[in-house]
Amino acid sequence: MFLEANLTTASIESSRPFHYPTAKSALHCGKISLESLARKFGTPLYVYSADQILERLQLFQQAFAGRHHLVCYAVKANSSLAILKLLAEKGAGFDIVSGGELERVLAAAPEAIDRVVFSGVGKTTMEIDQALRAGILEFNVESEAELELLAARARKLKTKARFALRVNPDVFTETHPYISTGLREHKFGIDIRQALQIYKRSVGNRWLEAHGVSVHIGSQIRSAEPFGAAMERANKLVRQLDNAGIAINVVDAGGGLGIDYHDGGFDPAAKLTEYASALNQALEGFTGRLLLEPGRFIVAQAGALVARVLHVKHNGAKTFVITDAAMNDLIRPALYQAYHEIVPVRPRAGNARDVDVVGPICETGDFFARDRALKPLRPGDLVALLDAGAYGMAQSSNYNSRPRAAEVLVEGRSARLIRRRETVVDLLASEVVGPKS
Ligand code: LLP
Repeated sequence: MFLEANLTTASIESSRPFHYPTAKSALHCGKISLESLARKFGTPLYVYSADQILERLQLFQQAFAGRHHLVCYAVKANSSLAILKLLAEKGAGFDIVSGGELERVLAAAPEAIDRVVFSGVGKTTMEIDQALRAGILEFNVESEAELELLAARARKLKTKARFALRVNPDVFTETHPYISTGLREHKFGIDIRQALQIYKRSVGNRWLEAHGVSVHIGSQIRSAEPFGAAMERANKLVRQLDNAGIAINVVDAGGGLGIDYHDGGFDPAAKLTEYASALNQALEGFTGRLLLEPGRFIVAQAGALVARVLHVKHNGAKTFVITDAAMNDLIRPALYQAYHEIVPVRPRAGNARDVDVVGPICETGDFFARDRALKPLRPGDLVALLDAGAYGMAQSSNYNSRPRAAEVLVEGRSARLIRRRETVVDLLASEVVGPKS
């Protein structure tokens, strides 16, 4: 029986904090049963392991311990305040892409503001002012027009703006086309061939400081090779800048390191070692500070979306398991045909059979899995959608006027609500019916 328990856990454990402590128990996050959390906080419910989030941050920090570096966690992956605070306390900085994300960092960890980089192709004047006033580390600038705007705002506010050009290294990455960003045909960054001239033109503007060179080639990239190729090009630009008398202190490697959604046995430490050695090799000769912007790698596997089965429905040859979570809670399967492992919280005996796991939203695209072999599920059962900590809650919406899920953070032996479930009152709060007649 002990062996059997190990076999059950092996399929989902190791790189994930979710496991069945014994063959007879319900799925746990660390020491906490997901059944008890669902009872207490309701479903759909996002559950995260603080321990794993910190472990992943530490793995990153260790992998780059040999050089001056800073991990700037990509807030967009999961922007919950409690998670930002957790990471900031362990020395992380942040990669933000909006004024809203800046406010989140200020609310959760104001002491980390000088560890913030601001990325994004369309920063507004208001957002630039907000970030200049707050005193962030660096603006990752994505066009010459943006650099001009940044200079104008810095002059107006009488403060110097540190910038990096986000260069587009024209590197191909094998990932979903919606999240690949490093090719010339994409909207991101500045053509690396034009960057040198733009840096040169910035010299002499007393409101601008050429501080870094940045790249970001895409997301969910499993191989280290394209990261190395992009870094090599960035490093070459740093040398050209140096020859032109422009000393660059910072290289920002962006984010994008992928996880394995299919295999819980994936080894994050080995992956990071491979990634770090590709970057270090490409950065030969560069002695400045390396910034890293991981999002998914830090939080994805730490989180699960827990849902309750509402109905099991047979339509012809197909079986549909309808859950109380839907595409508004986790849009990745609908948007990117993404795979998320689905496991019963309390497995039942019986053979697995092919089912579609779907939500209640009025769209055929509202599915979590199609033709997936799952153990028997009955109405009232709980299921966990794994690896949902990144781009899950952060991409949730109120589509179909569904209040958003609650979030719980598990820390050692305790669990706390870090975001209460939305109510219908929240949903209607910002709306106006019309003028009184
Ligand atoms: N830095 C920049 C400039 C980015 O645009 C991104 C992600 C990151 C860092 C973090 O990338 P990560 O380490 O998380 O791969 N919603 C999609 C992913 C979109 C990624 C957008 N940019 C998904 O659910 O797969």
